[in-house]
Amino acid sequence: MTPSEGALARLTPVLTKRWLSPDAWRREVYEQLDGYTALRKALAAHPDDLIALVKDSGLRGRGGAGFPTGLKWGFIPQADGKPHYLVVNADEGEPGTCKDLPLMMVDPHSLIEGAIITSYAIRANLAFIYVRGEAVHAARRLQHAVAEARAAGYLGTDILGSGFELEVVIHCGAGAYICGEETALLDSLEGFRGQPRLRPPFPATHGLYACPTVVNNVETIATVPYIVLGGAQWFRGMGTEKSPGPKIYSVSGRVNDPGQYECGLGVTLRELIELAGGMQDGHELSFWTPGGSSTPMLTAEHLDVPLDFEAMAAAGTMLGTTAVQVFSDQDCPVYAAYRWIEFYHHESCGKCTPCREGNFWMKQVLRRILSGEGTHADLDTLLDSCENLLGRSFCAFGDGAASPVQSSIKYFRQTYLDYVEGRRPPLFGSPPPRPAWAATELAGAAR
Ligand SMILES: Cc1cc2nc3c(=O)[nH]c(=O)nc-3n(C[C@H](O)[C@H](O)[C@H](O)COP(=O)(O)O)c2cc1C
Ligand code: SF4
Repeated sequence: MTPSEGALARLTPVLTKRWLSPDAWRREVYEQLDGYTALRKALAAHPDDLIALVKDSGLRGRGGAGFPTGLKWGFIPQADGKPHYLVVNADEGEPGTCKDLPLMMVDPHSLIEGAIITSYAIRANLAFIYVRGEAVHAARRLQHAVAEARAAGYLGTDILGSGFELEVVIHCGAGAYICGEETALLDSLEGFRGQPRLRPPFPATHGLYACPTVVNNVETIATVPYIVLGGAQWFRGMGTEKSPGPKIYSVSGRVNDPGQYECGLGVTLRELIELAGGMQDGHELSFWTPGGSSTPMLTAEHLDVPLDFEAMAAAGTMLGTTAVQVFSDQDCPVYAAYRWIEFYHHESCGKCTPCREGNFWMKQVLRRILSGEGTHADLDTLLDSCENLLGRSFCAFGDGAASPVQSSIKYFRQTYLDYVEGRRPPLFGSPPPRPAWAATELAGAAR
């Protein structure tokens, strides 16, 4: 299926504009394609003006929550005598999310340039890029880019004769999803076990080593040089009034051409599917996630809802990381929810009870239902567990884990009932026997 003119017009290659240029990851190629011109412009400006510019642009964080970036930078106390830090969140663990890795592989200097400008704006002299443990290739590519940038005088002391000084450290995590949560990431970076911190205080005042810290996503930081070059009004010319700018949508699943599609915020799933070559033959859209597994799933009735922060919230979900996972009538929403809960159970850091226990039990109950041994009461148990997770967990991981279960029951209750009432063949044999320790614990709880 060839995309229509209308769908093609939705493409706005800004962050992805160099992705098809050979060797765009090399500094000389990056420089030939406008690279490091924004840095020169930024270093000639006052740091406060850069913060004001990013505020005016309306840039919102691309890591999931959509927090206004300029506002976050503005929270960093000035003249406090403490070191300030920038930490770039390159953990990218959300299921379905795959935009930061290609960006770092193909265009690492855009991230480095964004990190230098951001550090200058928030008066940080040390920046970290926290890369997910498995992404060794991206870490190596970044290490190389940092060395190239230092050799050219973009890093180190007296950058481009401005008197500004910055070092960038590439740090590899150990591959834990929770280390994408900004405070767990900071603990991990400090060498502790990655578990979320109690807030307040927030990282803006007590972040890395208890000093003022900005934590931003890779895509957020890589957007900064374009805003410096193009200006706030240019940036606001893309997207919607409250969700301005371009965004990389990662389309995966039952489409013909899965991949990264950069469009102004507010593109619809119908347009994205068209850009991605249409649904695969014999597959009809059934359900989809707007931004990873932590965002409640939607259905075919939401094909024309704009994928921006506001419209997604109004539709009862979230924009998240714009990891658009497309499922068809040949995919089972109950099985999808089960696989996601397996993930949340495995990745729960175990610090708080609703998440540690809730995910364990939801996994057992979902497996029982898929084994054809579920009961009607199991649906209530699942919804009860979700209620105990939502807003009652120590961090947003808990809310994310409730999303696939709650939303799949909301839209596909009948499919659940089909398993319970024997109209759908079981996907598994009998659930594995309950471990002896669980029986003991339950008996203990009953006493
Ligand atoms: C469980 C969990 C995992 C997260 N993983 C990531 C991640 O991999 N990358 C990321 O940028 N943000 C992630 N976040 C969001 C971060 O906590 C934080 O909001 C973000 O890095 C801020 O950057 P932004 O303002 O540029 O979006 C995660 C949040 C939670 C609760
Ligand atoms: S919700 Fe609780 S157990 Fe789950 S990851 Fe967050 S802190 Fe850890």
